[in-house]
Amino acid sequence: MSFDVTALPDATFGGLVTAPTSAAEIVSAAEASPAALPSLLVRFEGFLLIKGMDGLADEPELLLRLSRIFGTEVESYHETRMARQNVHPEIPEIFMVSNIPPADRMPPPQPNPPRNADGSLPTQFPHRRGWHTDQSYRRPPPDASLFFCVVAAPKGQAQTLYANGIAAYEGLSPAMKNRVDSLIGIHAKPGVGRGEVAVRAGEAPMELGPGDQPQRQPVVRIHPETGTKSLYLCEAGQMDWIDGPFVGMEPGPDGEGAKLLYELMSHYTKPEYVYAHEWDKGDLVIYDNRTLIHAATWFDAEQHQRLMWRTTVSGNPGAEYAGEAKSWIVA
Ligand SMILES: [Fe+2]
Repeated sequence: MSFDVTALPDATFGGLVTAPTSAAEIVSAAEASPAALPSLLVRFEGFLLIKGMDGLADEPELLLRLSRIFGTEVESYHETRMARQNVHPEIPEIFMVSNIPPADRMPPPQPNPPRNADGSLPTQFPHRRGWHTDQSYRRPPPDASLFFCVVAAPKGQAQTLYANGIAAYEGLSPAMKNRVDSLIGIHAKPGVGRGEVAVRAGEAPMELGPGDQPQRQPVVRIHPETGTKSLYLCEAGQMDWIDGPFVGMEPGPDGEGAKLLYELMSHYTKPEYVYAHEWDKGDLVIYDNRTLIHAATWFDAEQHQRLMWRTTVSGNPGAEYAGEAKSWIVA
């Protein structure tokens, strides 16, 4: 079986894979031609949507099998010390992003104001906050994530926003490309007192163990399969606002580094680089964390339930990380 794919509607990047058969058959076909889906992911600039994958909800091991197609290692969220209530009870490689107890992941607040003047959903930083690439506070960072909708919130809420770092890098001026080409960002785990809001509030940063230290990452990533350059950055919550956000630039929330980060993130999230996904139950999105950033949006968690499953795969971070041990595992 070959995969039918078209350009993702209402987007400037991404592919829509049509799945005429069951989730189980899709997974078997992907295993029979293991290069097929990963090469589509590259061809469509790091984003694939497969609709109609409802069968994964009944057989979560299928999601694990499909994840293995995209990387040699699928993260065990027990190894990375994820709170147990947010990890699938039988499959530790599935992170449950949900407000359904015992899971306790609440959506982010609405932006202020919640809508643009024309009624559309705000997506551009800094009006929209929360843009990040998964786990950039670790080295080597992961390659890709698979994100599956088990229970959907109503349309018009709980969208996931994606921005294309390949196009955003291409769209920089030659002078800005020069400026960022060898720049290094410092990424920190959210919630440890090193993000912009915490630093501005004067919170004392948490004492971090050796496995949780902020990590340096290139601002321009070279894709290991294509050599394509992309912007690799997060915004305020997942960068280090004490020593960073950039190595060798004035640190802190009012420093030169912060000004540059605001400028770059505002550019990165311009409408022409962004796709807002409205979820249907059974949607599976596969995104390349090396070349895209994403952001969650609000939903009414008092009124509605939502359950997403995520897996994270790694194994091909690029030459920058060759031979490196995992920063989060301390011998
Ligand atoms: Fe994420």
